[in-house]
Amino acid sequence: MAKKKIRLGLIGCGGNMRGAHVPRIQADGNVDLVCVADPAEEQAQALMEKWGRLVPYYPGFRQMLRENELDAVFISSPHSMHYEQARLALEKGLHVLVEKPLTISSKHTKALIALAEKQERFLMVSYQRNYYAPHVYARELVQKGALGELRGVVSYVTQNWVGVKGWRLVPELSGGGMFMDTGSHLVASTLWITGLEPAEVSAFMDNAGKAVDINAVVNVRFKGGAVGTLNTLGNARPHDERIAIHGSEGCLVFHMHQWRIKAVLLNDEPVQIPSRIKETSPDEAFFRWIRDGGKGYASPHFALQVARLSEAAYKSVKLKRPVKVAR
Ligand SMILES: NC(=O)c1ccc[n+]([C@@H]2O[C@H](COP(=O)([O-])OP(=O)(O)OC[C@H]3O[C@@H](n4cnc5c(N)ncnc54)[C@H](O)[C@@H]3O)[C@@H](O)[C@H]2O)c1
Repeated sequence: MAKKKIRLGLIGCGGNMRGAHVPRIQADGNVDLVCVADPAEEQAQALMEKWGRLVPYYPGFRQMLRENELDAVFISSPHSMHYEQARLALEKGLHVLVEKPLTISSKHTKALIALAEKQERFLMVSYQRNYYAPHVYARELVQKGALGELRGVVSYVTQNWVGVKGWRLVPELSGGGMFMDTGSHLVASTLWITGLEPAEVSAFMDNAGKAVDINAVVNVRFKGGAVGTLNTLGNARPHDERIAIHGSEGCLVFHMHQWRIKAVLLNDEPVQIPSRIKETSPDEAFFRWIRDGGKGYASPHFALQVARLSEAAYKSVKLKRPVKVAR
């Protein structure tokens, strides 16, 4: 049976929308790209060139949402804009895929999750690691108790932010630096795999001469007694990312380097990922939910834990003391 056509609009046509999402939309083969919005017309032009066809272009996303019949939108814009863009799209009854972080505040994250539930629409936060087979399997292992009771996590990611320019360095647009941005993947993976929920955070950050954090050391006490540290180093190269999860019965260690998974070790032995677990992408899962009525969909409640932990980290830096995580 032919796949149902999905009418899609894009909000934000920058590097990530063009480089990551356009190829995945093209790979689907039955998505109708109806319209695009971006205040910078040259970004939209570059996207349409990559798509291979001109589509109606709007400088403002509100007009785009008003004037087009859509099933869904993808949002890949500066972080502080995600909330308003996703809110309007959900209110219009559209399914929404939003880039990370979902929003830059726990209040807005909670409101979007509630709105999506009320509207009975799918809300996807585009954390691609949650669709990598090793991450999916690691989550299963933790859930079935292979590590015993969780006692602690140590996670870090390194990236070179020396050349970063534009909205990422403007706190009002980004909501924060390396910890809010690439760090969001680290926090999301750690919380999604372990199911841990933060209770208290004590953080130290260093801006290394920029207007936003470049280095962050974020210590966390989790509900249930586990403790951990999640660190972002934004002035080191190349990309390297590790998550070590320790329990009463075992430990699991992930290693990514240059954005590729290099090793997954269970008690220091390489993990065989069962072939039943297929690698997919947020885009593929999102389109599947729309077509088959949401089989496998779970409201992104873990994104609220990500927002709460991040918010507490920035608050702890500001207040120079440990901060209880908001409920
Ligand atoms: N999942 C990943 O691995 C990954 C990787 C890179 C970026 N991202 C995320 O993607 C998003 C965009 O990042 P990017 O690297 O593409 O940045 P970018 O600067 O390349 O693109 C941002 C785009 O948003 C546009 N924009 C600005 N204001 C807008 C508005 N009001 N409405 C619509 N568009 C607007 C800009 O003109 C630009 O074209 C961010 O949320 C970022 O964290 C995710």
